[in-house]
Amino acid sequence: MQHYFTNKTNFYGNTTPQELIKEYGSPLYVYNENILRQRCKDMVNFIPYKNYRVNYSTKANANLELLKIIREEGLDADAMSPGEIHVLLSAGFLPEQIFYIGNNVSAEEMMFAYNKGITVSIDSLSQLKKFGQHNPGGKVAVRINPGLGVGHHEKVITGGKHTKFGINSDLVPEIKKLLKAYELKLVGINQHIGSLFMNGEQYFKSIKEILKLAEEFEDLNFIDMGGGFGIPYKKQDGEEPLNLKVLGEKIGDLLNKWASLNNPNIRFISEPGRYIVAECGVLLGTIHAKKKNNGICYTGTDIGFNVLARPMFYGAWHDIEIYPLNGGVVPLAMETVTVVGNICESGDIIAANRQLPLHKEGDIIGITDAGAYGYSMSSNYNNRLRPAEVLIQSDGSHRLIRRRDTLDDLLRNFTGNCLSC
Ligand code: LLP
Repeated sequence: MQHYFTNKTNFYGNTTPQELIKEYGSPLYVYNENILRQRCKDMVNFIPYKNYRVNYSTKANANLELLKIIREEGLDADAMSPGEIHVLLSAGFLPEQIFYIGNNVSAEEMMFAYNKGITVSIDSLSQLKKFGQHNPGGKVAVRINPGLGVGHHEKVITGGKHTKFGINSDLVPEIKKLLKAYELKLVGINQHIGSLFMNGEQYFKSIKEILKLAEEFEDLNFIDMGGGFGIPYKKQDGEEPLNLKVLGEKIGDLLNKWASLNNPNIRFISEPGRYIVAECGVLLGTIHAKKKNNGICYTGTDIGFNVLARPMFYGAWHDIEIYPLNGGVVPLAMETVTVVGNICESGDIIAANRQLPLHKEGDIIGITDAGAYGYSMSSNYNNRLRPAEVLIQSDGSHRLIRRRDTLDDLLRNFTGNCLSC
């Protein structure tokens, strides 16, 4: 049961967590190519509609080698910053495969994307005006707020009344005025109502809303329905995956009907980030200390919140696996511990009061479903080094796909002299 997911998927291919840590050091992000490819296929086949495309949401994981695989699987991509555009182009995506969804960006950023031939989405009236002033007669997309949201935490709900994102549907007349004033061609509308739903009801409702709104505009090339598809983080407790088949067919019906009535050639886009990469990643670390403070047993590891921020940011749950130091069998006996990292804040907790198999210093710990918003949210806080990333390839072999930071990386951007170099 303990290694339920990694055993079932032969996650580590021809190697073991212990060997990987020995070769590449700790902590270490490990990705499985087969799982990544499967998740891409799931999404490409999600909606039965002839002109359906998937934009991978780069923010979830922007490793160049993973992006290349995602592109090979036939996905396009969304970008949230010039940096993401740069990395996507470096991974071989063509400008027409990239959708830049700006939020409070400068005119320079809009034009950085636009001048490369990338479609730009604008998410406020003032930004639409700015775009028009810099680019009269241009093509543009607009992000709307369909009035409802979803998400695993209030911080990641991006539709509805309490969010900075999108233009409300009652402002359509204002949008039209600006389009006219600057002779802009509206090529698409997009939305994203939030991150992580396990039942598609709200997503489906939001699509109905965006379709209603789309009828206000003529000749749209595309409607982007957004991402947010959840994955089961509590696999050890038997949590079931999202039922993509049922949801996809239901959405497919809706889209086919709408298209035949309104715009038979329109492209519909989904924009998943987490779903594509979360389950293909495990974060390995090492247990360096065990202690008891005031009745709480702490298991101290090298996985601080600079390496995996989600538990600290959102109180997010990740299943944990234990791999004994010398590769022996995982003990059946359990202990309840609070798993913490090595950062100088008391909130540096990966899992509080978690029941885990008995473990000791030197054992390896695996944080599962860490492929999305793991490395991409990591930092050098406390001047710690961001970990390396390794890919378990389809044939079971492994390869380094990003090296660990070095101490010199920490000095890279300083302008003065280094007194010890
Ligand atoms: N499209 C837009 C415009 C987005 O802002 C996002 C995510 C996505 C698509 C992809 O959403 P997904 O399919 O991954 O749910 N750091 C948080 C998640 C933040 C999501 C931000 N926007 C976490 O670790 O849970």
